Amino acid sequence: MEAREMLSRLEQQGIIPIVTLEDAQDAEWVCKILHSAGMQIVEITFRTQAAAQSIEIVKAHLPELIVGAGTVLTQDQASKAYQAGASFLVSPGLDLNIVRWAQERDLLVIPGVITPTEILSALHQNITLMKFFPAESYGGIKALSALRGPFPQVKFLPTGGINPQNAADYLALSNVIAVGGTWMVTPELIRKREQEVISKLACEAIRIANQRGS
Ligand code: 3PG
Repeated sequence: MEAREMLSRLEQQGIIPIVTLEDAQDAEWVCKILHSAGMQIVEITFRTQAAAQSIEIVKAHLPELIVGAGTVLTQDQASKAYQAGASFLVSPGLDLNIVRWAQERDLLVIPGVITPTEILSALHQNITLMKFFPAESYGGIKALSALRGPFPQVKFLPTGGINPQNAADYLALSNVIAVGGTWMVTPELIRKREQEVISKLACEAIRIANQRGS
């Protein structure tokens, strides 16, 4: 999928569930629930060894679901994510080697930034969509509003401390394309196979995102 199309899909969904799977066997049921709740895009993190296999399983069983790889810290993980079928890469920080590697493959990469200096470095690499992480710890809505002035061309995907109570306020910012979070599908909810809770939280997230601009 083209980067521009991917951006509009992210914006359309508004809230991206960030999933960490300890066991790839859980990938299918978890993503099925998220998909049934209305999610077209999920992010599966490389915080566990199960990440690449989980992405592969989801791509095989739910080919219509767009899967991004999160917490990509190394080029090796980027490569594994790409081979597994990830449609985009998200990193908590800005690593120019990972950024260049992804761009050479026309793979959307969303690096993490906080400071104006990091934003400038990313801009010099032609990145205009950046993850703002950890959002709540680094100034949240106030910081993102302040960054709008000097960086009108930059859009952000804030994550870190986003929840059903504050998501709508983030989504109201013109420089926020979407927010991400783990609250809908925490490792504990997965471990306990809390299917109904995950479904309820994902449906609530979709409702919040759909209220944007209304
Ligand atoms: C991330 O990987 O972006 C964060 O872990 C999301 O933060 P959260 O756990 O506070 O949602």
